[in-house]
Amino acid sequence: MKIILNIWRQQNATSAGRMVRYEVPNANEHMSFLEMLDVLNEELTRKGEDPVTFEHDCREGICGCCGFMIDGVPHGPQRGTTVCQLHMRHFHDGDELWLEPFRAKAFPVIKDLMVDRSSFDRIIASGGFISVNTGSAPDGNALPVIKKCSDMAMDAAACIGCGACVASCPNASASLFVSAKISHLGQLPQGQVERDRRAMRMVLKMTDEGFGYCTNTGECEAVCPKGITIENIARMHRDYIKASATFREETSGGGAG
Ligand code: SF4
Ligand code: FES
Repeated sequence: MKIILNIWRQQNATSAGRMVRYEVPNANEHMSFLEMLDVLNEELTRKGEDPVTFEHDCREGICGCCGFMIDGVPHGPQRGTTVCQLHMRHFHDGDELWLEPFRAKAFPVIKDLMVDRSSFDRIIASGGFISVNTGSAPDGNALPVIKKCSDMAMDAAACIGCGACVASCPNASASLFVSAKISHLGQLPQGQVERDRRAMRMVLKMTDEGFGYCTNTGECEAVCPKGITIENIARMHRDYIKASATFREETSGGGAG
């Protein structure tokens, strides 16, 4: 099958970008979308041209590395699917597609379709963890977890940090991502000690990093490849409001003496 691609080419974050038209005459329906781009890149390399840069790692829908816009939709037209798991059988011979990077101030373009999502890492580092004593692993049954809570925690833990929610949001909000991380740990007994601090720090860090506010448009939920729901955002707001009233950061130093 033949696919026509209009791909955003941009050398780095500060240079101007532009759409460039390519043809892939020898794609087939069994290829993943990224394999189809591999074929294009082999051809570009063979001709001495600069291959298209895009990010990928597992190609199994679990690492969260891949992701760009296909015809204005993060990860493309197949719901609940990362672009590495999207297959060419969902397209038709002669289709013309437009590929662009995720666009958000907090995701600067590294090159072509690849963006820098290290802002997500900094949000996680600000509070998306639990502190436990080192030593041997505790017995699995020693800490009972209510079934409903464990289900909600597991659902939230499915977030792979791909950033599609940010790219789809008209405010470039990272609320779905951050709320998934806050919900995941906040449902579990191990996450209770730092629950207030986590909500405060991660929400504030999201704003610091340049992400916008959530206005409940729901675009994020519609494009999330892992089915993260906006219920998590409601839980995040509840935790944040509670923490705002009760939590105070510890200050160092002290004593009158
Ligand atoms: S919430 Fe969904 S879209 Fe957002 S980063 Fe996580 S997996 Fe990706
Ligand atoms: S490359 Fe890992 S999720 Fe797509």
